[in-house]
Amino acid sequence: MSEYKIAVLVGSLRHDSLNRKLASALAKLAPQDFKFHQVEIGDLPLYNQDEDANQAAPVKRLKAEIAGSQGLLFVTPEYNRSIPGVLKNAIDNASRPYGQSAFAGKPAGVLGVSVGAIGTALAQQHLRNVLAYLDVPTLGQPEIFIQAKDGLFTDSGEIGESSKAFLQKWMDAYVAWIKRHAV
Ligand code: FNR
Repeated sequence: MSEYKIAVLVGSLRHDSLNRKLASALAKLAPQDFKFHQVEIGDLPLYNQDEDANQAAPVKRLKAEIAGSQGLLFVTPEYNRSIPGVLKNAIDNASRPYGQSAFAGKPAGVLGVSVGAIGTALAQQHLRNVLAYLDVPTLGQPEIFIQAKDGLFTDSGEIGESSKAFLQKWMDAYVAWIKRHAV
């Protein structure tokens, strides 16, 4: 494959989201044939099964973006020891109608940053559970749990020196995983 398009789902709508910054900085660690696109999830309707036969335009757009990608990247905060509702809502929308999920077989990576000491560990574990059901092969190792600290990002939005080698290792494993499972 000459190019790998990656649909990036960020689990925060916050303007200054650390997870959005992390997603943008991570993309800079990838090889040139990987193109990352942060998909919009803030304009999706709340999932309603009554609308399955008549999905709203933002849902169709999200599903098309996922279908047109070779891989997925989830970068999410932890909210109350789980994944944020906006992310679960996006996943529910794009997984339906039954039998027409956009996710099946798309390989993924999961990581996140939070202010808490466990660095999104429980949110990631819940997300892995959801992705397993959706038949999304998800990179298992290395795991990345980041607690937000000064110096995580440089002023120009790159990963800071203290975390760079660690995250580069993750990106290398992610790239190999996507290449192995891309459909
Ligand atoms: C949080 N935060 C949080 N942090 C954590 O480590 N574990 C948690 O369970 C929670 N729960 C939680 C719930 C809600 C509703 C909010 C708004 C926040 C704090 C969270 O890590 C922090 O706000 C991050 O900065 C959120 O990520 P973004 O928006 O910066 O990407």
